Amino acid sequence: MTASPQDNLSALYPAHLAEIGKRSADALAAAGRDTLVIAAGMPHGWFLDDQDYPFKANPHFLAWLPLTDAPGSWIVYTPGAKPRLIFLQPRDYWHVVPAAPAGYWTDHFEIVTIRTADEARAHLPKHASRCAIVGEPNAAVGDIVPDNPAPLLNLLHYRRAFKTPYEITMMRVASKLGVHGHRAAAKAFREGASEFDIHCRYLEATRLTESQLPYGNIIALDSHGAVLHYMHFDRNPPTHAHSFLIDAGGQFHGYASDITRTYAASDSGEFQALIDAVEAAQQGFCAKVRAGQSYPELHVHAHHVLMQAMRDQDFITCSAEAGVANGISSTFFPHGLGHLIGLQVHDVAGFARDEQGNTIPKPDGHPYLRLTRTLQPGMVTTIEPGLYFIDMLLAELKSKPAAKDVAWGKVDAFRKYGGIRIEDDVVCTEGDPVNLTREAFAAT
Ligand code: GLY
Ligand code: MN
Ligand code: MN
Repeated sequence: MTASPQDNLSALYPAHLAEIGKRSADALAAAGRDTLVIAAGMPHGWFLDDQDYPFKANPHFLAWLPLTDAPGSWIVYTPGAKPRLIFLQPRDYWHVVPAAPAGYWTDHFEIVTIRTADEARAHLPKHASRCAIVGEPNAAVGDIVPDNPAPLLNLLHYRRAFKTPYEITMMRVASKLGVHGHRAAAKAFREGASEFDIHCRYLEATRLTESQLPYGNIIALDSHGAVLHYMHFDRNPPTHAHSFLIDAGGQFHGYASDITRTYAASDSGEFQALIDAVEAAQQGFCAKVRAGQSYPELHVHAHHVLMQAMRDQDFITCSAEAGVANGISSTFFPHGLGHLIGLQVHDVAGFARDEQGNTIPKPDGHPYLRLTRTLQPGMVTTIEPGLYFIDMLLAELKSKPAAKDVAWGKVDAFRKYGGIRIEDDVVCTEGDPVNLTREAFAAT
């Protein structure tokens, strides 16, 4: 899938590039360097083998260019000068080599094509000591050795949370791709397919290979939904599936979507009622993705709302407040409400207090929260509340005083459903939130 004409990437790109250039100039000043040098990266080989792991480009490289498959290439940027792309296109008849640069971004770069990785050195700055070199150690050529200066990265990471309109467009396309897969997967579930076959149907619908996914698909039938990162893909379907949890995204030009839906079998009305409650809660949290909203406060708020839902459906006998205070809520909702998303599905700098590398701590008792910043326009966050029936955590709860506040008969009856998670990707704006996932479902 490509961007549709109305996505207008060529019109949006110049302002994006100007913003990346400005951030880079500020970051260089913070680090006391003149020139930014970014390695796309080199493939990592398997141990004692002649094959490589799938190539994953440096996200700092992808922030400039939509080149997800350009190992051995480099970007060089000195503020005030046109950025340079040193593009490795090897002479190689064993593999498909990266296609020659083409498209809306090429006029904005001075492009040099090289044929071997070592040739890059001749086109990189003469004096390495004046450069900030961003990349993995194995990208080094000669004395150009990645040093990833912290003052530079702290600033770039902090600001990466603020997406440009160009980036939001990429994420819109990534969302649509993911939704194509979700539609096909839900249909396969209704037809009685196995986890493995649902996964294959997802890939077929998105036209993505596994290594192009932003993260490994989570395709869980029944109690497997209780494993938060279940990636096992049973080859055989259960005789009669009760529930289906799918957490799977799309990727476009390096940008991710991260989408979760949970479905009940048509004869599992009691589970559908709980899904409906989580979905209603999730929509309420999405509506709070507004400038000035503290994300950790929203996360704690989610614990209260989810406990109220469990109270309403007679899973617990104490009040919602007591369920949060006595740890019951963390048994059923044991992960964070969400995280920043963009070039990385769990995007960087979720804890950043400022551009200098200071951090905002997680609230006590919430070790898995990945985002403690206050929401601002341009940020894109996931909103992914869940309720799970996890044997290990339920056993721990059973040994605590709060066990008396749990309706164990009802809880035990729900173990077979695994769990529920509903996840959307939401843009914080100056006004109302924009839900990229719901937009994509509405359009697909
Ligand atoms: N797919 C991983 C997550 O939701 O964070
Ligand atoms: Mn997520
Ligand atoms: Mn997810």
